[in-house]
Amino acid sequence: MKVIFIPLVYLFLKPQDVVGSEARNFDLRGDLSTWVKGEVKLSSPRSFLGAASAGDFALFAGGIEANGARSEIVDMYNICDRRIKVNTLSEARSEIGSASFMNGRYAVFAGGKKNDTSFSKRIDIYDSKKRCWVKLDMTSARAAPQLIDLGSILVIYGGATLDIPFISMTVDYLDSDLRLNTIMNDVSGYPFVGISSGNTVLSNGIALGGYTNSNLGGDMILYGPSNQTLFFKRVGKNVVLEALNPVPSPRIGMSGAFSFDRLVYAGGHTIANDGYTLVPSNKISQFNSRRNFHTDLEITLSEPRTYIYSGAFDRFVLFWGGGKSKILEVFDSTNLELLSGIPSKLNLTISRDVAGTTVSKNCIMFVAGGLVWNTGKPTDSIEIISAC
Ligand SMILES: *[C@@H]1O[C@H](CO)[C@@H](O)[C@H](O)[C@H]1NC(C)=O
Ligand SMILES: *[C@@H]1O[C@H](CO)[C@@H](O)[C@H](O)[C@H]1NC(C)=O
Ligand SMILES: *[C@@H]1O[C@H](CO)[C@@H](O)[C@H](O)[C@H]1NC(C)=O
Repeated sequence: MKVIFIPLVYLFLKPQDVVGSEARNFDLRGDLSTWVKGEVKLSSPRSFLGAASAGDFALFAGGIEANGARSEIVDMYNICDRRIKVNTLSEARSEIGSASFMNGRYAVFAGGKKNDTSFSKRIDIYDSKKRCWVKLDMTSARAAPQLIDLGSILVIYGGATLDIPFISMTVDYLDSDLRLNTIMNDVSGYPFVGISSGNTVLSNGIALGGYTNSNLGGDMILYGPSNQTLFFKRVGKNVVLEALNPVPSPRIGMSGAFSFDRLVYAGGHTIANDGYTLVPSNKISQFNSRRNFHTDLEITLSEPRTYIYSGAFDRFVLFWGGGKSKILEVFDSTNLELLSGIPSKLNLTISRDVAGTTVSKNCIMFVAGGLVWNTGKPTDSIEIISAC
């Protein structure tokens, strides 16, 4: 039997999230030479951590400590005074699905792994308006579900489970009063875990690509690239799910972000015909969410890479690092080109896997913690690009 082996470290990366534009006092500077890079520290080195932004905070939640224990720590970085204060989750865990919700009011941390044999149902929500935490439980436990902000509804889609087929078909909806509603995804053909992103202006969102268990009947997991595209559209208080045209070049470990009405996604890897060799990609693709089609673009990344840290600053989509890479590439969605002449001072200092990433105020991007590429040890470094 052909077994596709993908190191687990690659499977449960959080999807990228995009923060609604709340531009108050934070104006994006379009001139790249004015962008600055900074660095601060987590309160402890951790990998597989969740990250989301709420109000003036970027929050880095849970993860795995250097001694292998799951962490309950939430480091809250205040973008105004640049200090970190430490808070706690209601349950220690790693691989938490995380996103901002309600125009950046809430940071939502859903599910995760309590340990390798027990997954979590817990949702911890930080309310930046009331400055308090809210605790909820999903109907089923799962690791790294994908959180998709449709504006007034947050979709908590899928994730990894401990039972066959090891990928969840459950979808929870969190409404603006923080009430939960559960349905089953009955439109995608088979379960998959891909990348996802929401467009709060058009009230829609998308999950696409990533991996699927291609041995659905069996008790063995065979992970392969998924070509599925699942579309979420808010209609009043409900969400309608639709399976759309497949991803033209499916890759595992792509990443991307919404810029206006297009989801720009890049990198990732395919699996060679031998069934296990990973083939990294430099492809850049986009999904147009107004007219619902995918395009593979002519331009490519300057080097093939997987699990790139990505986020959007309005018209710019940033692709930062990923695996052993340190490079920043910036895609301009108004002319579909990569910017040239990016200052090398904006490169990541530490290349790393399984870090947490979030964008605050549409102009500050964070890459926090993770496993240092050449040592495999967790780092406490948070690297920051600020364009405002
Ligand atoms: C995993 O967590 C569960 C629930 O907290 C606990 O019952 C179990 O003993 C833990 N397993 C290990 C191996 O630590
Ligand atoms: C999508 O993937 C499925 C399952 O691997 C495959 O059967 C189907 O042919 C693919 N569709 C396209 C258009 O590639
Ligand atoms: C740093 O950035 C520049 C410009 O983006 C790039 O050419 C260079 O290779 C990078 N250096 C490293 C060590 O990645």
